[in-house]
Amino acid sequence: MNKTPLYGVRIKSCEGVYSPAEDSFLLAEALDVGSGVSVLDMGCGSGFLGLVAAKTAGRVLSVDVNQSALECTEQNACLNGSTNLEVRRSDLFSNIAGSFDFILFNPPYLPTEEGEPRDAVSLAWDGGQSGRDVIDRFLADVSEHINLGGRIYMLGSSLSDYEKTISVLESYGFQISLVARRKLDFEELVVMLAVYDF
Ligand SMILES: C[S@@+](CC[C@H](N)C(=O)[O-])C[C@H]1O[C@@H](n2cnc3c(N)ncnc32)[C@H](O)[C@@H]1O
Repeated sequence: MNKTPLYGVRIKSCEGVYSPAEDSFLLAEALDVGSGVSVLDMGCGSGFLGLVAAKTAGRVLSVDVNQSALECTEQNACLNGSTNLEVRRSDLFSNIAGSFDFILFNPPYLPTEEGEPRDAVSLAWDGGQSGRDVIDRFLADVSEHINLGGRIYMLGSSLSDYEKTISVLESYGFQISLVARRKLDFEELVVMLAVYDF
């Protein structure tokens, strides 16, 4: 059980749920969430990013397709006394109506071989053959759920062509900047900030 404070929040690890790792920390470091704003934490896992955001946000909706992640997020919200965070099961935007000031997403981004075994934990990293299966589905709907002037913070990897993510977001009218990057042994991680500013 890991209850060490990380970026000001306490996180209990849960079986079958992605625990905050290098990619989560890179995104948390880059986050700048204004006070009173609405936040969608897509693919919340342990709840880590949503809980960091909840320190200043007005309200946070944390969603995941993995039921264990929702239970874990609820437990961690309790542990941190966060009362402005709600959890909901959703396959990407399938169970979400309306739009948000901020959307956070550390997606599954690793390329995988067809036929590799899948379970609840592999949902956290399995991006299909290109690594982009979930990313491309997310991008197809995200502009319908972001407020004018809103911001998306999204983790990208060189293993799944984060430059393609930038091009797609630019084609929808987002202004993109890279607000963090880290070279690891086999990949480069970046945090993309996309501002929806027509
Ligand atoms: C890399 S983990 C990130 C977890 C957490 N946000 C963090 O940064 O520590 C990706 C998360 O996305 C979730 N996920 C995968 N596919 C999803 C989908 N189609 N809809 C919603 N969540 C999904 C996984 O269950 C997992 O919790």
